Amino acid sequence: MISENYNRLFEAAKIVRDKAHVPYSRFKVGAAFLTDDNSIVVGCNVENAAYPQSQCAEATAIGNLVSQGFSKIKEVVVIGSGNLLCSPCGGCRQRLREFASLDVPIHMCNSEGHLKTSTLEELLPDSFGPENL
Ligand code: THU
Repeated sequence: MISENYNRLFEAAKIVRDKAHVPYSRFKVGAAFLTDDNSIVVGCNVENAAYPQSQCAEATAIGNLVSQGFSKIKEVVVIGSGNLLCSPCGGCRQRLREFASLDVPIHMCNSEGHLKTSTLEELLPDSFGPENL
């Protein structure tokens, strides 16, 4: 087991992944965050006929996080489609940077299970965050 919360996060990400709106890419993604009070907040990708208006699963989950009154992410699970690594895109790495500290583990998975874990700092080195302002 990767952490005591990993299994809970994995199951939550898997359930929300099934809800993804992906008529264009057919690539479903689910994200689950552990908050500072050990709640779980989830999100899936939501695509749009005007392709650039599509939203990643992590961005949906961040909107849900803030809407539900949370502001800290302690751990992340992202479940993509297929067997290759689904790592957060560049934009979502920066979005996570706003609410997660650099040591936060980001578990990248497929629907079968865990593939790789990296910290936010490993995914986004020399990053610009709130304390840089
Ligand atoms: N996608 C995510 O939701 N999160 C990621 O970490 C990588 C990519 C989505 C965007 C798009 O809806 C689909 O996956 C294919 O790129």
